[in-house]
Amino acid sequence: MDAQLQRRVQRYGWDRAVDAYENGWRTQLAPAQWLMLDMVDPSEGERVLDVACGTGLVSFRVAEAVGDLGEVIGTDISGEMIETARRIAAERGLDNVRFERCDAEDLFVDDEAYDAALCGLGLMYVPDPVTALKEMWRSLKPGGRAAAAVWGARSNCGWAEIFPITDAQVVSDVCPLFFQLGTKDALARAFAAAGFADVRSERIKTTLHYGSAEEALDAAFRGGPVALAYSRFDEATKRTVHAEYLASIADYRAGAGYRIPGEFVVCAGVRPRV
Ligand SMILES: C[S@@+](CC[C@H](N)C(=O)[O-])C[C@H]1O[C@@H](n2cnc3c(N)ncnc32)[C@H](O)[C@@H]1O
Repeated sequence: MDAQLQRRVQRYGWDRAVDAYENGWRTQLAPAQWLMLDMVDPSEGERVLDVACGTGLVSFRVAEAVGDLGEVIGTDISGEMIETARRIAAERGLDNVRFERCDAEDLFVDDEAYDAALCGLGLMYVPDPVTALKEMWRSLKPGGRAAAAVWGARSNCGWAEIFPITDAQVVSDVCPLFFQLGTKDALARAFAAAGFADVRSERIKTTLHYGSAEEALDAAFRGGPVALAYSRFDEATKRTVHAEYLASIADYRAGAGYRIPGEFVVCAGVRPRV
């Protein structure tokens, strides 16, 4: 897919997904987000960048860790995600965190300004992840730490059929390279290619819990990357893709709901001092 088109699909797709995002994914993504935070370990007074921040699930945890003397900036390509994160920050009365809409490959941030940079479950959607990691590298002070989390290998993610099922109904694939970074050591290689040193990577198993078929369908179709394509389906097409997706996760049925296996890869590195 052409890079410009991919960015547009992401921007307007996540605009659509914003209302269903936290309900569908907050609990499910937490293990990867926490491991990423552990790897970077933000501390009081630090300045931290959160790339592809979505509604700010990671940014707000970091804001707590860095406290009033620190500062967090969250960036995302989706205007609706940024507006939602800003609203949550205002509701919580936080003034050590702010949000700006920008592309991960072209961050509107100064060179060497941050102690740490994070990207949670965002790099899979970016046309050139190494360029995005180079932007994180550029934003870091020498010695600054970076970490990113992505979904793991396709064969270990039980919900993976969502992509071919959706793609069969549209002209161009929604996320052509979604599982590429989670395969073997691809994420660690991308970190090294962007200039990071001391690169370390962990692969963790997880389970996605959904209490009902509706919950599983909502998360997959309304709260994630295929939301734009899905919003354009007529009712008959929606029924078809629902049936196909539920058939694809039938093995993971647990009572009235589902326990779907998944995998994350989380990687960290340091911008060398010289
Ligand atoms: C699965 S959400 C992750 C949000 C957040 N990091 C979290 O952990 O909850 C993926 C986010 O990546 C953003 N995104 C996709 N492509 C992007 C790009 N090229 N630049 C910046 N953000 C992008 C989407 O808008 C969406 O908010």
